[in-house]
Amino acid sequence: MLLQLFLVPSFLTFAMANFFAPSDNANAALGPQLQPWYPESDFKTFGSGLDVSKYTPEGQQFDVKKVSVAFLAEYYKKNPDSLTYRDGYEDPDLGVKHAWVEQTHDGIKFANTDGKVTFNRFNKVVTVSSSYVTLTTAPITLLKATLTLEEAIKVAEEALRGTYVPPTSPSASATSDDKSSLQFLANADGSATLVYSVPVKNDSQGTYFQAYVDAHEPKIVAATDYVAH
Ligand SMILES: *[C@@H]1O[C@H](CO)[C@@H](O)[C@H](O)[C@H]1NC(C)=O
Repeated sequence: MLLQLFLVPSFLTFAMANFFAPSDNANAALGPQLQPWYPESDFKTFGSGLDVSKYTPEGQQFDVKKVSVAFLAEYYKKNPDSLTYRDGYEDPDLGVKHAWVEQTHDGIKFANTDGKVTFNRFNKVVTVSSSYVTLTTAPITLLKATLTLEEAIKVAEEALRGTYVPPTSPSASATSDDKSSLQFLANADGSATLVYSVPVKNDSQGTYFQAYVDAHEPKIVAATDYVAH
C-alpha cells in the first residue's frame, strides 16, 4: 500500500520550533518573522519494501550512500549531482538503515531542505521523504558573496548578542572558511538567497541561534532559535 502524507519529518522539527523572541530586549526586536521558511515535506511508505537492487551494479556490495542518492534523484526527479549523502546510521538489531541526503545548488547546500531514505534489512526502501525544491528563479548572478564570513559573523553577533560558534565537523578541519559557511535558503517564490550560516551563542543568556546572514548585504534574513521553549 502506498501512503501519501504531508508532514514535517522529525529531522526538521527542531529547526521549525517557533521563533519566540527571547525576553531580552535586543532579541525581542528581531521578531517572529525571522523564522526560516520550510518547504512542504513529502513522505511515503512502501510496506514490505521497494526493490532498488538496480542501483547496485552486478557483483558489487550494496552501498547505502550511492543507492540513497541514486534512488532519491530518480524518485524526486533531481539531478544526482545536486544531491549529497550527509549522514546515516544502521539500527544494529533491526538492520534498518537511515540515510539523509541534502540538496545542493552549484555545490552549495540548501539550509532549509532535506531528504531521507530508510532501507529494511533486505536493502529495500521502506520510507522516503523529502522537502527538495525546484528553483524557478536561478540564483546564477548571486553565486558570489560580496560579504566576507568575518563581516557576516559581526552582523550576527551584534544582532543576536552572542558569540560565533565555529561548526565542528569530523570531516572538516575545526576552522571554518567563507565557502563552507555559505548556504542557500530556498524561498517560497521559487528563488533562493545566498546566506552565511552563522551559529551564535550567549551562555550567560542561555541563547543559541542559527543565524542566516545575507551574503550580499549586512542583514539577517532568517534565524532559528535552538532553545525556543
Ligand atoms: C550576552 O548577552 C548579554 C546581555 O545582552 C551581553 O551583555 C553580553 O555581552 C553577551 N555575551 C556575549 C559573549 O556576547
